[in-house]
Amino acid sequence: MPKVLAQGKTIECEKKANLRKVLLHNGIDLYNGGASFINCRGIGSCGTCAVKVEGEVSAANWRDNAKSDRTCLTILLHETYVRKAKLRF
Ligand code: FES
Repeated sequence: MPKVLAQGKTIECEKKANLRKVLLHNGIDLYNGGASFINCRGIGSCGTCAVKVEGEVSAANWRDNAKSDRTCLTILLHETYVRKAKLRF
């Protein structure tokens, strides 16, 4: 069962869970500023949910770069450490 370590919390979740959903359902402050209201709601088009991920997750999507992952496109496989990414806009 994967564990997610984020903002001082350890969250257990189902294997192949969506990282964005796990973080939001567990009260993790994922978005910066107004992005918490204005975002694509997880369809992978805005980039505001990007974080730095350390651990085994699904392969990077073609829309991601090597330094951050969009949580809405990330599937959890094993223990994962998540740090908030800096805004890219
Ligand atoms: S919520 Fe928009 S890219 Fe993830």
